[in-house]
Amino acid sequence: MNKMSAATEHPDGVGASNAGAIVNALQSVVAHIERDIAGGAIVPDVTPQEIRTHLADRYNFAEPAALDDVVADVQQMLGMWQVQVTHPRYFGLFNPSVTPASVVADTLTAAYNPQLASWRTSPGANEIERHTLAWLAKKFGFPGDASASFTTGGAEANLSAVVVALTKAFPEYGEKGLRSLHAAPAIYLTSESHHSFNKIAHITGLGRDALRIVATGSDLKMSLDDLSRRVAADRRDGLTPLMVVGTAGTTGGGAIDPLPELGRFCRTEAIWFHVDAAWGGAAIVSPALRRCLEGIESADSITCDAHKWLSVPMGAGMFFCRHAGAVGEAFRAETSYMPPKTQGLAADPYTSSVQWSRRFIGLKLFLALAHLGESGYIDMIERQARMGEVLRQSLRRAGWRIVNSTPLPLICFTRDQLVVPAFLKALYQRQIAWMSEIRLGGAPPVVRACITSFRTTEADIEWVVREMTQVALNDSEVHA
Ligand SMILES: Cc1ncc(COP(=O)(O)O)c(C=O)c1O
Repeated sequence: MNKMSAATEHPDGVGASNAGAIVNALQSVVAHIERDIAGGAIVPDVTPQEIRTHLADRYNFAEPAALDDVVADVQQMLGMWQVQVTHPRYFGLFNPSVTPASVVADTLTAAYNPQLASWRTSPGANEIERHTLAWLAKKFGFPGDASASFTTGGAEANLSAVVVALTKAFPEYGEKGLRSLHAAPAIYLTSESHHSFNKIAHITGLGRDALRIVATGSDLKMSLDDLSRRVAADRRDGLTPLMVVGTAGTTGGGAIDPLPELGRFCRTEAIWFHVDAAWGGAAIVSPALRRCLEGIESADSITCDAHKWLSVPMGAGMFFCRHAGAVGEAFRAETSYMPPKTQGLAADPYTSSVQWSRRFIGLKLFLALAHLGESGYIDMIERQARMGEVLRQSLRRAGWRIVNSTPLPLICFTRDQLVVPAFLKALYQRQIAWMSEIRLGGAPPVVRACITSFRTTEADIEWVVREMTQVALNDSEVHA
């Protein structure tokens, strides 16, 4: 009996030959959920007490319950009691609709439960991740020997970048800690950068004062002049400039910092250049959009989330770093209870990343990529960019003012006298769409809408703009 037939002849009938049945069953579940969500409410209206009462009444866990009943109840709760981020009219915070293949992948991951901490324990899963990450690293223009790993999300990837940069700049940091450093490290970013860096400054012990907020222009991009002034001043004051964070697709307004210029500046000044492309990084897949990420290839490290524009379920971030040696030094671990270290071609992820036990995060991107193919991904990403343009045009035609500028599908807008919180409340109450409030560069609040679903159609957008314009014009509570 060969190895494959051993699998197909398993006494429970579970094996590779069941792939068709598994895929069909899960695809029909996903299609069913999708239909329910698209036809239902987007924004929940519920109090904590209602949910607590429901749970307390049904679940004291004293007796076992039928799984079917519990699943049906959980589905009802999820259907009613959450913002439906996969709804075609959810224009939100980078939470995507998810490809069916990635849902199949997450189910397989849960069922096989591979442990990726050591290569030897899960060679297949580890190589699938390596293969997938290498594909994207090449698109980013990184060398073949760069380090790459899946993370729980962008925050962990950004944390990894700071820890590795500290380790490379200060070899004594690992053993003796920050106290031993001869100069205080500084990190340069803008007020539009992601706030995970505030937490990271705290977690690493750098302290939030280490974050130097560089000015932005009216386009919300980092000012190179201000950066250079601040770095010079900090050097004069005895600090060590450690890292510049360029964001490729800011969370608030989708701005892309001037990556080529930042890369050149960092090279000249010997400062670590990290690009936080948690959302915008997906544009690298598209021949039409990738030029907006020009300069990313000069980064020392990159954050890119698969669970944003690459449309797989949470949590799937990625951390790419061109200095594999520094990554190994930052996360090195010695212990006898782990399987013997893998030597040669393969590395053990627990010695090259923040995590120890490690879920098979990468399967959802691998399966979705393999299923859709690169061309399918290009279509999906470019279609969403096109829908962003449709939304811009439609808003302008209806008299709204667009206040941000980005090639990515994120639109911030307002109109005279609009009271944004009241306007959003009215959108939610009427179940027109989910959008959010944002203050860009400290300006008064505006409305933020991001195309996050590959299911959003032109008809959805035209309907939403028509309905929300009616609200803005006719509802006396939404203007001052
Ligand atoms: C630019 C940017 N960086 C980092 C993050 C953090 O990513 P995560 O929520 O996956 O940890 C986000 C989240 O939206 C983001 O927009």
